[in-house]
Amino acid sequence: MNLKQNMKTRKKHSRKRIVTGWLFIIIGCLLVIWCIDRWDVWFYNPEELPYKAPEAPSRMLLTFGDADGKNRNVSWMCGEEVHPAALELVDDVDGGTSWVDAAGEVFESRGGKAAYYVARLRDLKTGHFYRYRAWTGDEVSKWHSFLVPDDSDVSFLYVGDIQDSIGGVTNSLLKAAFRCNPDVEFLVCGGDLTERPIDAYWEESFAGLDSVGQSVPVLTVTGNHDYLKGVICKLERRFSLIHSYFLDSMIGENQVFTVRRGDVQIFCLDSNREFPYLWTQRKWLEEQLEQSKAKWKIVVLHHPLYSIKSATNNLIQRWMFDDLVRQYGVDVVLQGHEHAYARMTHHNAEGKAIPPIYTVSHCSPKSYHIQFSDAFDKFGVGSRYYQKVHTHRDTLFLTAYDATDGTLYDSLFVVKTATSTLLCDYGEDIPERLDFTPSPESSKDAAFAERIREYQEKKKKE
Ligand SMILES: [Fe+2]
Repeated sequence: MNLKQNMKTRKKHSRKRIVTGWLFIIIGCLLVIWCIDRWDVWFYNPEELPYKAPEAPSRMLLTFGDADGKNRNVSWMCGEEVHPAALELVDDVDGGTSWVDAAGEVFESRGGKAAYYVARLRDLKTGHFYRYRAWTGDEVSKWHSFLVPDDSDVSFLYVGDIQDSIGGVTNSLLKAAFRCNPDVEFLVCGGDLTERPIDAYWEESFAGLDSVGQSVPVLTVTGNHDYLKGVICKLERRFSLIHSYFLDSMIGENQVFTVRRGDVQIFCLDSNREFPYLWTQRKWLEEQLEQSKAKWKIVVLHHPLYSIKSATNNLIQRWMFDDLVRQYGVDVVLQGHEHAYARMTHHNAEGKAIPPIYTVSHCSPKSYHIQFSDAFDKFGVGSRYYQKVHTHRDTLFLTAYDATDGTLYDSLFVVKTATSTLLCDYGEDIPERLDFTPSPESSKDAAFAERIREYQEKKKKE
């Protein structure tokens, strides 16, 4: 190689290095800008103001106890130190009174500390009403009561994210929902029950659950708002001390739980976690589904396996769980997080709708901008919703209601016999409501309003 060629080659390499260097700098700058823009979303935890736990039992919550749907736990908070505590339990049918010792534990958060108690009620009798009150030292709560239903039909309500603002209306919505559905035995929440893990929002959550959460078991999964943000997100111990069934069911730091009520088995996942945790949950879910003899299988998790916000959202959760959902014949997947209503059915080779049915729902003051993928059968925007799952012998009824006025919003049922599964969709005849008022200054709002218009136009032509 002569000198001229040598110089030319060196110049070429040098240019390449300069271009590569600039590319790295530009990508680095874009990453820094992106991180600054997303910093609060990823890492900011609002301050928890100082609080003092009341010296009488408060924030009482009735939950399932373990996989046996007859068992119950009751948790409560009282003072800052642990004292001897017990639950006084009266069987209203045979009149007997029993005392169930409660385990106490102090949890210290950023704004204060409180003692939490859990009483585990076992050997309850089906068809019996029970009255109970919590004692901590000499302090006692007011009386509450619950029924242990028999194993015939099963009915429960589901609400997606609640995360109400302080002074919110959740309690009146829930009470109205229970008044309209007096056969309902328990309440399932799809995570983000609480806006943030700080005392003021926990107080709001309990105001929302007032009288409901002490008379029917509340079963919730974790949502992203339940976690403290960070490079690795962290769930406070307070969450499991309140939703106390997790104390005995969690695997490592994974808040997983399953319960069998009659013909229904519910599997709760902790979808907000990083990949290694989700892998552990996958193994747990597969074991549970494999062992399950329940006729109806229902999976509850916070992050939708099929996102309505973006085709690329929640792919890890989908890769971890969706094949198991299909392989083991899960009938319904109840999800939240994306603050709208959406329902999707699976379709067989002949194009007939079959389970699993995937639903996204919320009961929160916040509504999000969504996409209108053809894969979904139905959407709802601009309101709050609750769903009811009711099983009777071979049939599972799944209905959705507008929580603000109680009107029916979606309805389908699945009939399952030894040889066939039939899915009937009555919801397609109930008009969709996509209520959205764009802010004049927001280009994102304008784009969403246009998406709604295009979707509605398309539906009209079908
Ligand atoms: Fe969420």
